[in-house]
Amino acid sequence: MKKKILVTGGAGYIGSHTCKALAQAGFDPVVFDNLSAGNEWAVKWGALVKGDLLNEDDLAQAFAQHKPEAVIHFAACAYVGESVDEPEKYYRNNLHGSLNLLSAMRAANCHKIVFSSTCAIFGEPDGLPISEDLPKNPINPYGRTKLAMEGMLEDFDHAYGLKYVALRYFNAAGADPDGEIGEDHDPETHLIPIAIETAMGRRDQMQVFGDDYPTKDGSNVRDYVHVTDLASAHLLALQSLLEGNESDVFNLGNGTGVSVKELIQTVKEVSGRDFPVTIAPRRPGDPAALVAVSTKSREQLGWEPKSSGIQQIVQTAWDWHRGHNSG
Ligand code: UFG
Repeated sequence: MKKKILVTGGAGYIGSHTCKALAQAGFDPVVFDNLSAGNEWAVKWGALVKGDLLNEDDLAQAFAQHKPEAVIHFAACAYVGESVDEPEKYYRNNLHGSLNLLSAMRAANCHKIVFSSTCAIFGEPDGLPISEDLPKNPINPYGRTKLAMEGMLEDFDHAYGLKYVALRYFNAAGADPDGEIGEDHDPETHLIPIAIETAMGRRDQMQVFGDDYPTKDGSNVRDYVHVTDLASAHLLALQSLLEGNESDVFNLGNGTGVSVKELIQTVKEVSGRDFPVTIAPRRPGDPAALVAVSTKSREQLGWEPKSSGIQQIVQTAWDWHRGHNSG
């Protein structure tokens, strides 16, 4: 029988791509999602349990019914800007929700979890690129909740033997090359989909949030990593835990810094469409530049990003948006 893996937030962007990778590798992904941000149409590779991490009964029932071998935990609020305005929502959903999940796992004798962490735990790093062991000084509530969660996992490992892999993504981007799933947030706040929606004429113009940063062209620099590469990293992390390996943390980036202005230019080139771009004030909570060193994940997990060139990222995102939101 196929091994069941409970995927919280499996109806979301990175979660759904990971469910596809799990199914292709012979696992049975069971999605646990309250559909507050996820999309029911994105659950295509296994059962959907509509449930909320803040509801302990929902969790207990999901574990009792499906008896998963392990958990992959994506469900969280994940907007940097919103977290600055609404920290209570972030502490409640991300920390309280995750604690409920770990308690439910203990009660159900499930001891392996892959956790969706973030480069936002590093804050404004002293140097670039960012390796796993750099100091962690998050500068927004979102990053603080994820860092606290990493601490929670470490403590649960020490005390209760929970084994975990925390994957700190840099900027997830792109879409399934088969066009089955892609990035679809409502409201959309992420750079690439906003640029694509502007190219498609669904927005009149877009903004660059600050061009006075100490970066190559004054706009923020990020490390964009293709969502299917992230999905394959989750699979490798899961397999490592199932083989009985110890807990660990990994940075997942491509190692290349791309500025907001460069990214917008790439969207213009890939789409073949020009569109108006204005310079707006900095967005609170945004660090100037975030670029990963991912040597550790390559060496220890055998992870190899295959689709994370910026052209490929934008092309798959463009193709998916064209198919999904015709325009
Ligand atoms: N940006 C713009 N204009 C826009 C939207 C975004 O200039 O209309 C800029 C942002 O200021 C930022 C960059 O584009 O510099 C990327 O912004 P996104 O919102 O696409 O992504 P973030 O870097 O804010 O967030 C991502 C993930 C988070 C993660 C964070 C780490 O979505 O989960 O990286 O910094 F925590």
